[in-house]
Amino acid sequence: MKRILFVDNDVTVLQSIYHWLYPLRDRIEAYFAQSGVEAVNYLAQAKFDMIVADLRMSTMDGVELLDRVQKQYPQMVRIILSNASIRPSSLKTITSAHRYLIKPLDPNQLANSLLQACMLSDFLQDADLQRVVSQTRSLPSLPSLYLEIVEELESPNPSAERVGQIIGRDMGMASKVLQLVNSAFFGLPRQVNDPGQATVMIGMETIRDLVLSINLFSQFDRFKLDRLSLNKLWDHCLDVSSMSRRMVKSITSDKNQIEYAMLAGFLHDVGKLIFAENLTEKYYQTINLSLRKKIPLYQAEFDLLGTTHMQVGAYLLALWDLPDAVINSAACHHTIQNCQGARNMIEVAVHTANGLDYETNPKRQRGEPPLINQEIVAKFGLSKWVDDWRKDHSHH
Ligand SMILES: [Fe+2]
Ligand SMILES: [Fe+2]
Repeated sequence: MKRILFVDNDVTVLQSIYHWLYPLRDRIEAYFAQSGVEAVNYLAQAKFDMIVADLRMSTMDGVELLDRVQKQYPQMVRIILSNASIRPSSLKTITSAHRYLIKPLDPNQLANSLLQACMLSDFLQDADLQRVVSQTRSLPSLPSLYLEIVEELESPNPSAERVGQIIGRDMGMASKVLQLVNSAFFGLPRQVNDPGQATVMIGMETIRDLVLSINLFSQFDRFKLDRLSLNKLWDHCLDVSSMSRRMVKSITSDKNQIEYAMLAGFLHDVGKLIFAENLTEKYYQTINLSLRKKIPLYQAEFDLLGTTHMQVGAYLLALWDLPDAVINSAACHHTIQNCQGARNMIEVAVHTANGLDYETNPKRQRGEPPLINQEIVAKFGLSKWVDDWRKDHSHH
């Protein structure tokens, strides 16, 4: 049961939320305040898991309120409500909000976002993770280029040409996207030289996720990664992504699933980047501990940092509201057997690809080799894929 406080000057908005959430009353306990001041009083009296506040309110606006909540109740999930007139790219500057919801609210979307945020809330309650996250000076934010593409995709008539133009404005990004699109990753029949054309060929959603992944990796300090010998991490994630995508493609023709597999592969080790960037020296010791004791890196992380790259990565991806399969792939790629509940082919594919990439390129990952869970691989019909892959790559 999660306790959520909704704050809006407009009482009709609060009434609608009350009615929409009524069917979820066994999971969400909703409270309502009509002003920032009233909200502050509520917060002083009882513990809440989440706050959803309107951006524009009189006396104390949503940003001011969430800033206060961030300082006083850091474990609360903070969501901002905003009008459609405000561009997502300007909302991203509100660093005290984990997420934003755009008005007019859609009942289903609201329920989904809140239930996803409940998962984030569980992460935030974890004391060790909280300690590490509070030590990180800044978590990477969603890149504005990505948000612009999301905006275009959510517009009434999204166009591949316009997505191409958005990418084309950033020369560095455009060339990296084209390089990937023309690589064996997609196996296109002919060379593509223009971002618009590339978008038409591989789809707007896929382009959006490539932009997110490329930009995310470029946000981190290369020298810190070199220090930790993590400079091969991008190659590793690229290959895991490519393999996961092909594996899922061999099981289903569902475009969404195939694209989620790609994104999940790219982002599965993002927690390592967060450790490397923020806890560089401590992470150096962690890696050395795993090498010296011959234990898996995530176990050394747990021993020295109190949390793992899986947990921190999943936390960030949940913060960004990415699909569950992507979050779960980060959370369970090493310990798939312990992953309860909705285990799906994407998580299994990322787990398998992570192990297979080690077999071909052992130097890319530090510490003990990740073990592939054959039983689960077989259950998802991927054994033949794995055997074929091993046959093709055994000469390496
Ligand atoms: Fe990993
Ligand atoms: Fe990995």
